Amino acid sequence: MGLVYETPQSLIGAEGFYPSVLMVSTISTVLAMVAGVLVYLYGPYWGVRRVPGPPALPLVGHLPLMAKYGPDVFSVLAKRYGPVFRFHMGRQPLIIVADPELCKEVGIKKFKDIPNRSIPSPIAASPLHQKGLFFTRDATWSTMRNTILSVYQPSHLASLVPTMQNIIESATENLHASEEGITFSNLSLKLATDVIGQAAFGVNFGLSKPKSTSESTRTVDDQGSQNDEVSDFINQHIYSTTQLKMDLSGSLSIIIGLLVPILQEPFRQILKRIPGTMDWKVDRTNKKLSGRLNEIVSIRMKEKNRGSKDFLSQILSARESENVAKNAFTPDYISAVTYEHLLAGSVTTSFTLSSIVYLVAGHPEVEKKLLEEIDGFGPHDRVPTAYDLQHKFPYLDQVIKEAMRFYTVSPLVARETSKEVEIGGYLLPKGTWVWLAPGVLAKDPKNFPEPDKFKPERFDPNCEEEKRRHPYALIPFGIGPRACVGQKFSLQEIKLSLIHLYRNYTFRHSFSMEKPLELEYGIVLNFKHGVKVTAIKRT
Ligand code: HEM
Repeated sequence: MGLVYETPQSLIGAEGFYPSVLMVSTISTVLAMVAGVLVYLYGPYWGVRRVPGPPALPLVGHLPLMAKYGPDVFSVLAKRYGPVFRFHMGRQPLIIVADPELCKEVGIKKFKDIPNRSIPSPIAASPLHQKGLFFTRDATWSTMRNTILSVYQPSHLASLVPTMQNIIESATENLHASEEGITFSNLSLKLATDVIGQAAFGVNFGLSKPKSTSESTRTVDDQGSQNDEVSDFINQHIYSTTQLKMDLSGSLSIIIGLLVPILQEPFRQILKRIPGTMDWKVDRTNKKLSGRLNEIVSIRMKEKNRGSKDFLSQILSARESENVAKNAFTPDYISAVTYEHLLAGSVTTSFTLSSIVYLVAGHPEVEKKLLEEIDGFGPHDRVPTAYDLQHKFPYLDQVIKEAMRFYTVSPLVARETSKEVEIGGYLLPKGTWVWLAPGVLAKDPKNFPEPDKFKPERFDPNCEEEKRRHPYALIPFGIGPRACVGQKFSLQEIKLSLIHLYRNYTFRHSFSMEKPLELEYGIVLNFKHGVKVTAIKRT
């Protein structure tokens, strides 16, 4: 014992050798660890350090700026740093592109070098969201996309008009009955979810229909009325959607993922086992949702005469007829892509519809012109066809474009480089997150003079402003081969809804409607307190 103790002592005393070995190795370990942490934290920054941007705080990056300026943060930074700048979402730098010509370069001209979307931390926490079209990559994505596009033929969209119209009519009965007014954004979310439920799953969720008259034509498990289950499913869907936050207000694992992504998954694994935490709730909800979706898919797969009206049936039929689609669309991918439709098709469309009603309610001169056009189309019981919707409502088109410019529901569009590529004079390494900023383009006075004024006439094809404008200045549905697959579907639904609404009502802001309207960041933009209006019956 003594010897063991003494030998090092003597070494220390005699030559000072042992402490220096110990110290050197301790110092090297600490230095290696510090270097490892620094490389981990600043590695992604190093490759893009030449791109201008504000100084970033360790770990949180520029998230405090997002808290300070809200959704306007990217316009503020574009003014200060130019059309290509750095924004650090926690540790992860994003290269934000806020110029129409450069967006065209990223989204179209250099698509083969930038074909995929980066996966942000809130999505990384949600396996359910990863197998849809949004986040699949390369060859899997293009096979899936081609099959999905084959479903969105114009004739198929046109055949959806009566379904959409039925849901719209029953959802908007007696809106004037409530004297205090209605939260239109809640109604429009139910309406859009019902429309996409019917179009994607062939299921009537019956959310927007008054309860007493609700009758399901086909329910989730196709065994008669199961309204509780359906609304449970939808509540889970809404919960899982609204929990995907892009700032620091999401679940703990998402927050950790924004700061130190490598720790997100281990933390999620621990937290999801602790009852009461948000991670536990999100995990349970996602499991239930996936289970429910897999159930729907497996029931529908076994059906012999499943018909071809809804998206799920069409994808299943395409899968059976093509080998390529069969390999890409395994049942878990089918569940994900159908669920993605519910997600992508409800929140975005509902937000757009509500923002139009909100903006028109505050601009009586726009309302007057819109009513003239809608009334001029013909008797109020004449339902417009898909062709009518595309060609006979030019002012409605302008109102929709201007509202989508004013409140761009998807202000950022994500991409990731798959090799080294030059954008706007900066060489970006493989794996760089390049995000386009349609929200900044939409408020740029170069293309939209007086950007804070709601002026649908700026989109009149005969107006100088419209003729002068860059063709990619307004890209609310994204750009290039990866642009939104649901654009025509949602425009058809929005137009049908607005025509029916304004044939029957006009709207004014309720007393409880805050001014100015407050917005919050989820995976898309949302209203903080909803759009509250009173409906006035037209006679
Ligand atoms: C007002 C309504 C909508 C808006 C503003 C909107 C916006 C967008 C945007 C900005 C993108 C990204 C495009 C890009 O990266 O260039 C996108 C992609 C997508 N959207 Fe929509 N969307 C809407 C409605 C819909 C609907 C109704 C569906 C489904 C029926 C849908 C399904 C999708 C899908 C699957 C993608 C991914 C496409 C791909 O990666 O290939 N969206 N959408």
